[in-house]
Amino acid sequence: MNQPRMKQILTTRRGMMAQSAAAASAVFLAPAVVKASTIEKELHVAAIGVNGMGWADLSSIGSHSKVKFVGFCDIDDSRFDKADQAFPGVPHFHDYRVMLTELGDKVDAVIVSTPDHMHAPIAMMAMKMGKHVYCQKPLTHTVWESRQMRLMAEKLNLTTQMGNQIHSATEYRSGVRAIQNGVIGKIKEVHSWIGVQGRQYCNRTDRPASAEVPAGVHWDLWLGAAPERPFAADVYHPFKWRDWQDFGSGALGDFGCHILDPVFTALGIKAPLSVHAVNDGTTKEVWPGPETVTFEFPGNERIAGATMKLVWRDGGLKPPRELAQLPQGVELPSGGSLFIGEEGVLILPHYRMPTVYPADKFRDVTLPTVPGSSHWHDWVDAVIAGKKTTDGFEYAGPLSETVQLGNIAARLPGQKLQWDTEQMTFRNHPNATKLLTKSYRSGFEVEAVNS
Ligand SMILES: NC(=O)c1ccc[n+]([C@@H]2O[C@H](COP(=O)([O-])OP(=O)(O)OC[C@H]3O[C@@H](n4cnc5c(N)ncnc54)[C@H](O)[C@@H]3O)[C@@H](O)[C@H]2O)c1
Repeated sequence: MNQPRMKQILTTRRGMMAQSAAAASAVFLAPAVVKASTIEKELHVAAIGVNGMGWADLSSIGSHSKVKFVGFCDIDDSRFDKADQAFPGVPHFHDYRVMLTELGDKVDAVIVSTPDHMHAPIAMMAMKMGKHVYCQKPLTHTVWESRQMRLMAEKLNLTTQMGNQIHSATEYRSGVRAIQNGVIGKIKEVHSWIGVQGRQYCNRTDRPASAEVPAGVHWDLWLGAAPERPFAADVYHPFKWRDWQDFGSGALGDFGCHILDPVFTALGIKAPLSVHAVNDGTTKEVWPGPETVTFEFPGNERIAGATMKLVWRDGGLKPPRELAQLPQGVELPSGGSLFIGEEGVLILPHYRMPTVYPADKFRDVTLPTVPGSSHWHDWVDAVIAGKKTTDGFEYAGPLSETVQLGNIAARLPGQKLQWDTEQMTFRNHPNATKLLTKSYRSGFEVEAVNS
């Protein structure tokens, strides 16, 4: 049965305060003339962050025949052009709080494609209002936020999807199927890696001098939940915010939700027992350079031992080549995962088809090919049908929690942190437990979900 259009479920005090606080800085360029309709006929979507990955998201979601955009929100006037050309006449907003409050029931679903630090404040407000959410990866900026996002989506029975689109591609689906078919037997260990490193975009370890905020950029709204700091050119907005702990999630946050996704799906793992990072040292400002983060997961029917090691490397570090049993002349890809099984190894490169080794042993084995689909359209179809996706927050929450647990370890390198996922605490490290969450600037708070 189709899911009914959800009513505005909670009108929070924070939401009301946000509305009045934000109204002054919002620009409403066109009247909202969208009439209500049923989602089976037309899904009314609002997009927050409309350029960069936001453009990929809204153009892909907007190519679904049942999607109609009812609001575009971006903090930078110069970044609406592409969205406007493709979908003319959609009202503009600078502040998501104003947009959601003003449009209210005219919005069925939202796309959140902002920098990481704003995913949870925006998505949680939207979900509280009963909106279905497509949210970029990593799902959130902290472990605690990922937990709240999962709980909220479950509590309100919303259709959600994290924006790690390769989840639905033939490459990752085929790798997952091969592992689940037992082509290399039960899994003993996994190594995952990516070439980029945590502070490579701004290439700094300290804060730059401030600069004048460009016309059309709403810096205060860009900062949102993060502590105040002055604008600086070419280090934060756009794109380079990734390097900074206050806004981004480093190389692990940027690529972990892609590359660890088929590992999670294939093996059905959820929460690690421990996490331990080694890196070149971090400052309180930026993420580390090359790092190795080792997670230990509990065993299950797809895992060979009582526990399994999952080792993440970035910044040019790769697993030892000999682990892959590669033939002469074949090298490890620049990013991906190496599954070490009881019967052989499977390499699933980042966005390429899997291969198995040793080559002689698997010469006559044909790996499965699973067709891909549009991650974006899958979400739209699921919203309309009142169904769940395979990458909803019930799945993406624990994956993002794990990624951000790695980032806590990155800030406490050399220490093995024992994780208790039920209690949401590190058994052996109160200071690590404090890093599960952060403070929010007034007006952008994320509230805990009460059961
Ligand atoms: N799935 C993928 O392959 C992929 C690729 C790139 C980025 N991403 C993710 O997408 C998100 C955005 O990354 P990006 O590289 O596009 O960043 P970006 O800095 O280009 O920001 C995207 C857009 O959001 C706008 N924006 C920033 N803060 C906003 C706010 N508070 N409200 C409204 N609009 C705001 C920016 O002006 C910009 O137009 C991140 O979470 C990133 O991790 C995913």
